[in-house]
Amino acid sequence: MIRLRYQEVFDAEKYFQILSDPAFEYFDVRVESVEEEREWLAQNAERREKNQEYNYAIIYEGEVVGACGIAIDQRRPHKGEIGYFLQRELWGKGITTEAVRQIEKIALEKLGLVRLEILMEPENRASEKVAIKCGYEKEGLVRGAYKRDGMYRNCLLYAKVVNPG
Ligand SMILES: CC(C)(COP(=O)(O)OP(=O)(O)OC[C@H]1O[C@@H](n2cnc3c(N)ncnc32)[C@H](O)[C@@H]1OP(=O)(O)O)[C@@H](O)C(=O)NCCC(=O)NCCS
Repeated sequence: MIRLRYQEVFDAEKYFQILSDPAFEYFDVRVESVEEEREWLAQNAERREKNQEYNYAIIYEGEVVGACGIAIDQRRPHKGEIGYFLQRELWGKGITTEAVRQIEKIALEKLGLVRLEILMEPENRASEKVAIKCGYEKEGLVRGAYKRDGMYRNCLLYAKVVNPG
């Protein structure tokens, strides 16, 4: 149904459009311009080289419709945080759930991660449902987990630990 590929600089316009949707209420990324998005995308190769982040575009019916990425904990590199977003018109079709399943395979098999985390604001029921459907376990509430729109927000922490040895 979907495939993942690395994000490209030429995806910037589509991402700016998707991320400007006011329905993205519980998302901590705000982009001011296409140029800003281009500059951010241009740094993805370096982020991979430094083992910081692996960001993929979600491709559905040949089009970029969203993104799914893993950010590696720089102090404890066996841990990664998965994040995602999808254009609003396609919500509720299971696309992000499938994207998380695919990126999890990359995280475990290619990057050798052991612990994967997904964080979301408690009000973000759709995001929580994605984590649950992908088999992540709720570990609790992380206070002040991230800053959105000038305020520090609490987030639910979901995680999956594989082959801890
Ligand atoms: C979160 C997001 C990526 C989910 O994408 P999606 O492709 O619609 O997700 P899926 O279809 O795979 O699964 C969503 C599930 O949540 C459910 N859901 C959606 N809104 C819900 C709500 N308000 N309450 C309860 N469940 C809800 C859907 O019904 C679906 O479950 P189902 O398959 O059992 O019917 C999308 O809503 C989004 O891009 N939101 C804005 C960005 C964002 O918040 N990203 C996550 C930051 S933590």
